Amino acid sequence: KILILDFGSQYTQLIARRVREAHVYCELHPFDMDLAAIRDFSPRGIILSGGPKSVYEEGAPAVEEALFELGVPVLGICYGMQLMSRHFGGEVVPAGKREFGHADLLSEGAPGHLFDGFFVDGKSPVWMSHGDHVSRVPAGFDVVAKTDNAPVCAIQDVERNLYGVQFHPEVNHTPRGEVLIDTFVRKICGCSGQWTPGHIIEDAVSRIRTQVGSDRVILGLSGGVDSSVAAALIHRAIGDQLTCVFVDNGLLRLGEGDQVMATFAENLGVKVIRVDAEERFLSALEGESDPEKKRKIIGKLFVDIFEEESGKIADARWLAQGTIYPDVIESAGAKTGKAHNIKSHHNVGGLPDYMKLKLLEPLRELFKDEVRSIGEELGLPRQMVWRHPFPGPGLGVRILGAVKKEYADILRRADAIYIEELYAAGHYDKISQAFAVFLPVKSVGVMGDGRTYEYVVALRAVETKDFMTAGWYPLPYEDMARISSRIINEVKGVNRVVYDISSKPPATIEWE
Ligand code: XMP
Repeated sequence: KILILDFGSQYTQLIARRVREAHVYCELHPFDMDLAAIRDFSPRGIILSGGPKSVYEEGAPAVEEALFELGVPVLGICYGMQLMSRHFGGEVVPAGKREFGHADLLSEGAPGHLFDGFFVDGKSPVWMSHGDHVSRVPAGFDVVAKTDNAPVCAIQDVERNLYGVQFHPEVNHTPRGEVLIDTFVRKICGCSGQWTPGHIIEDAVSRIRTQVGSDRVILGLSGGVDSSVAAALIHRAIGDQLTCVFVDNGLLRLGEGDQVMATFAENLGVKVIRVDAEERFLSALEGESDPEKKRKIIGKLFVDIFEEESGKIADARWLAQGTIYPDVIESAGAKTGKAHNIKSHHNVGGLPDYMKLKLLEPLRELFKDEVRSIGEELGLPRQMVWRHPFPGPGLGVRILGAVKKEYADILRRADAIYIEELYAAGHYDKISQAFAVFLPVKSVGVMGDGRTYEYVVALRAVETKDFMTAGWYPLPYEDMARISSRIINEVKGVNRVVYDISSKPPATIEWE
């Protein structure tokens, strides 16, 4: 396994993803992880991330010096390379010209080792983002690459297995970056690449069994990817000791409740208690039009209902949750200076302390793509596993202002047509998230010989990698036209459809 020490670069998570994509297990920890803990972890290799500071600044983050004497291969990326250079007696200075963006890396000497297959005709396009560079190479290191602006862009000391790169191999803008990371973790560190879906499942199943023994486990199933995969995985491990509680809040997509029951209860034989709570949610929301208050009402009622139901399950000891690795990193991430939530996101979870259940989080170490691939391997329908994210408060935040059943029914039908058409035209998998929004605004239209006075539906589709920033999806006109006319013709109560062309920021993905 590989240890990644984080110096606060915005790309650190990507390093971890690239390593996992090479089917090698890795963990990400703060740069000041202590040496004893590192020894305990016993990594086969260490990657030092980039970071926003300069190594010569007062109080710049550093690693314990003995880290370089552990005898395991080290790859320093950007700040990590500068830190390593300084440690071994090299020199780092502010660059005359900051480099940001594309650069053509030129090979020097005979690259080899880490750089096997990285250069084609002596060149490799890379992504740079730095203000400092190494000006004197430490003894024992060879320079492997330069750019027109920086004389030292990659170094290696093959004897001691130490490597440094000034560019960012972890981002997609460095096309052969994944080759380099793959070479580092497999060839140089000797990791075997057994972190495959089958292996992950086997490993998780045996851990779940040891952890819970013969205890009973409850899980709040939402129909979303994470809780669904957690349910399928835990069921594979302990069968009927697992009971899922599925709260249908009346704010789900068309037919979603039935699909969840069909997949889990009928096909996989999982015990699922379905609670039809539509009326309770709608009456709790009655008259409330403030988005944040609506979120709180929905979140709190969910917890109340979940507690009522789980209280009925005698001797449950464990509460299972579909927490995934990015959630873990984010909540531990004060150090990495992650942005704060603009909206109070409600997810399944956050149960009160007095429930005294132990937490079972079998997906805690997995990235979303890993969760999806084990979901497929566990036999969940492809459609469910690759579904776009859906917010906890559901249609509650897609009906602007006050929520009513009439609005929810209209929205569900419009949304279903939209999504069906996106699938049919091959757009769905290219879009990160798509949905319809109900606007409680009436406008005038004409149908046949009559005047209409009906509601508006807005369509949203975005492309994004991390949901922090997003661009609107350029849906072709003819698809827009077809979707619009189907919605207006088939959904009573709607006479106008609009397409949202706002990016995030300054807009958000959801409308509330
Ligand atoms: P925004 O609208 O903030 O959304 O750009 C970013 C992502 O978060 C989802 N989202 C939520 N998810 N509870 C959730 O579980 C919420 O209250 C919530 N609000 C937004 C949104 O769907 C998008 O994927």
